[in-house]
Amino acid sequence: MKKILVLTGSPRTDGNSFALADAFIKGAKEAGNEVMRFDAGLKKINPCIACNACFSEGRACIQNDDFNDLAALIEKAEILVFVTPLYWYSFPSQIKAAIDKMYSFLIGNKELNLQGAMLIACCGDGTKEAFEGMVKSYRMITDYLRIHDMGKLLVTSAVEKGYTKTGTFCKSAEEMGKKIK
Ligand SMILES: Cc1cc2nc3c(=O)[nH]c(=O)nc-3n(C[C@H](O)[C@H](O)[C@H](O)COP(=O)(O)O)c2cc1C
Repeated sequence: MKKILVLTGSPRTDGNSFALADAFIKGAKEAGNEVMRFDAGLKKINPCIACNACFSEGRACIQNDDFNDLAALIEKAEILVFVTPLYWYSFPSQIKAAIDKMYSFLIGNKELNLQGAMLIACCGDGTKEAFEGMVKSYRMITDYLRIHDMGKLLVTSAVEKGYTKTGTFCKSAEEMGKKIK
């Protein structure tokens, strides 16, 4: 049993990445894991202002936005799963703001329990080449945090809402959840 944090990046609750997130969570719960979820695209997370005052007043970010709720979940999590659309060949700004603020754990000298990560992403482009920038960021971030990559699901051609509910995409996301024990 693992403590899994699903960090989503879309502002669309009925969109392609949320369908994948729901399927992943179903599989992960069925396998007996504890699943936490934080929808960064629906939250208010201000950009990091590099004030380096992280944890100086107890909370992760001195700005006291929704990142502080996420920080508590990250501190508990063993597996971090990013589920996000691709925006301009990278992470959407809300989830990127959340990722940026993981800097607070470095400044605050906080030990994390994270062991593994997964990336589930979708985009409108027809070729996986579109994900190169995001995958490279994901790889460098996980390497830096010494977390191992437990798998990726990259869905192309997801132009229309509902696309990831077709075919076997959600089944693949569910299987990724099930394989965590
Ligand atoms: C602001 C914005 C930027 C986007 N940038 C890209 C992009 O760079 N490459 C791409 O293939 N698709 C891009 N897309 C398309 C989305 O990645 C795609 O529609 C995805 O399925 C949306 O996921 P969602 O329904 O979970 O929000 C963009 C969409 C938006 C709204």
